[in-house]
Amino acid sequence: MVTWLQRRAIAVLVGTRAPYYIIGMRIGNLNLEGNLFLAPLAGVSNRPFRLLARRYGADLVFSEMVSAEGIIRAQACSLDMIKFSPDEQPIGIQLFGADPSSLHEAAAITSEQMKPDLIDINFGCPVKKIVNRNGGAALLKDLSLSQKIMEGVVLGAKAVPVTIKIRSGWDESSPVYREIGQIAEETGISAISIHARSRAGKYESAANWETIGHLKDAVSIPVIGNGDIRSPEDAKNMIKQTGCDGVMIGRAAMSNPYIFRQTKEFLSDGEVKTKPSIENYIALALEHATLNAENIGPVRGIIKVRRQLGQYVRGFPGASKLRPLLHLVKTVEEIEQLFDNYLKEQAVVE
Ligand SMILES: Cc1cc2nc3c(=O)[nH]c(=O)nc-3n(C[C@H](O)[C@H](O)[C@H](O)COP(=O)(O)O)c2cc1C
Repeated sequence: MVTWLQRRAIAVLVGTRAPYYIIGMRIGNLNLEGNLFLAPLAGVSNRPFRLLARRYGADLVFSEMVSAEGIIRAQACSLDMIKFSPDEQPIGIQLFGADPSSLHEAAAITSEQMKPDLIDINFGCPVKKIVNRNGGAALLKDLSLSQKIMEGVVLGAKAVPVTIKIRSGWDESSPVYREIGQIAEETGISAISIHARSRAGKYESAANWETIGHLKDAVSIPVIGNGDIRSPEDAKNMIKQTGCDGVMIGRAAMSNPYIFRQTKEFLSDGEVKTKPSIENYIALALEHATLNAENIGPVRGIIKVRRQLGQYVRGFPGASKLRPLLHLVKTVEEIEQLFDNYLKEQAVVE
């Protein structure tokens, strides 16, 4: 395994302009062109949003978390959530659950029927409904169960590499990420993403990137750092401070999918060239709404995308008046009309 320092030395020797950061990654048998990941985001990282993230520079996208029980019971919504199209790839499908044999079976079904690039296991979800059934972050309290789950999924996934996504521990007094990392390595897990907070940390305190560096020191499989990347500069700082192999972006991508392209530019040239205008964000909003209407349906697709449209106009002059109107739209045409009116009004103001 080539360490980050060795890679950096090689990059310096061969004269790459940005020796630190823009690196292809190998996860098991999967080769990625770069190291920027769209985080799994329940309710958000569905097919349309994954397509957008790929179009705007993500090197691999993760699905929303999908219930292992739902897959083995052939529930329509779970089966729909593991589907994807080739233009979203590379893609990781994230499974959640607490029963090793269910997760094993779900991984086997997912790998055989869908052939994703990765299967990921959720060890970080803090939501009560999930942790009360011992899934998500609750697994961080039971390392023996966690090990069985990893073994089961690796066996079920067969040739598809398996990754895990963890938090640092259940609470601040139980930082188990190193132990989980070592178990992962021993059971054949191919990479670990770490959201640098405990379950108890929820989102209230700042992510503690030190844990990412400590995990990187404790394992030799690739580590993907996650938590509070809001800009290309943050991504560079995380890699620099922690030595992580890749970075995963969640909330910042929800309001700005361009962040992947911008981060790539910044990591390779030290400068962000993509500076989207208001018109670019409007085009992005329409692209997202159209993809939603096509993939989810003309009514439900638009209802589902409204909140995110509101996020795309963040920073626009008059956004506080525009946003509530976007939250009421029902069709792509209405969205177009709304933006047309907005641009005309802005032209008058100027
Ligand atoms: C709306 C939303 C949904 C999320 N859903 C999932 C999920 O399904 N699986 C998961 O592992 N993490 C999930 N997360 C956590 C994110 O993947 C990520 O770890 C977290 O947002 C921190 O990264 P960020 O600071 O870049 O947003 C979710 C977060 C948000 C905000």
